[in-house]
Amino acid sequence: MTTETMLPANLKTLISEEQLQQRIQELADEINRTYRDTEALYLVCILKGGFMFCSDLAKKLTIPCQVEFIRLSSYGNQQKSSGVVKPVDLTLPNLNGKDVLLIEDIIDTGLTLDFFMEYLASLHTPKSIRLAVLLDKKEARQRHVETHYVGFEVGNQYVVGYGLDDQGLYRNLPYIAYFDLDEAAR
Ligand code: IMP
Repeated sequence: MTTETMLPANLKTLISEEQLQQRIQELADEINRTYRDTEALYLVCILKGGFMFCSDLAKKLTIPCQVEFIRLSSYGNQQKSSGVVKPVDLTLPNLNGKDVLLIEDIIDTGLTLDFFMEYLASLHTPKSIRLAVLLDKKEARQRHVETHYVGFEVGNQYVVGYGLDDQGLYRNLPYIAYFDLDEAAR
């Protein structure tokens, strides 16, 4: 039995694997150009959701890179932001004078990135900080956060796959999917 057949019937593809990879290549080309003279670009991957985007983006970068990971949580097991960002692991090397690119799966209310940007600025003085998000749910924004590299804009619906989960599931899908609420799950 394939994984595909074990998925709920109302789980529909929103952004295919090919579309994701093509757009990530475009973002990587832009990042390679912007940072062509960097000593090293520090990719800071926000876990858990950012792991696939970070991995695929990093593989397409041709500039010198270091990859760091932090872990934040704001959703608990709900499909709605709890409004409280829980730092799980914020361990980072000294980023003073470094070029830093934060990598996040999705920006929704903006609370998570607002919190982390403020935290970073309170402890480090990077040469530059930019933000790459795969998905932007603009309609849900509660905090203004400047995004520099955006993969796709999505509507205000819950999406899963490619790092994003619903109660821990679906992170492994190589595409972005949504639940079609008009169609009953199997
Ligand atoms: P924000 O703080 O509301 O911007 O939400 C950021 C975090 O919430 C993301 O890193 C995701 O982990 C999670 N999140 C927001 N929207 C979704 C979604 O549609 N599916 C899965 N996770 C989401």
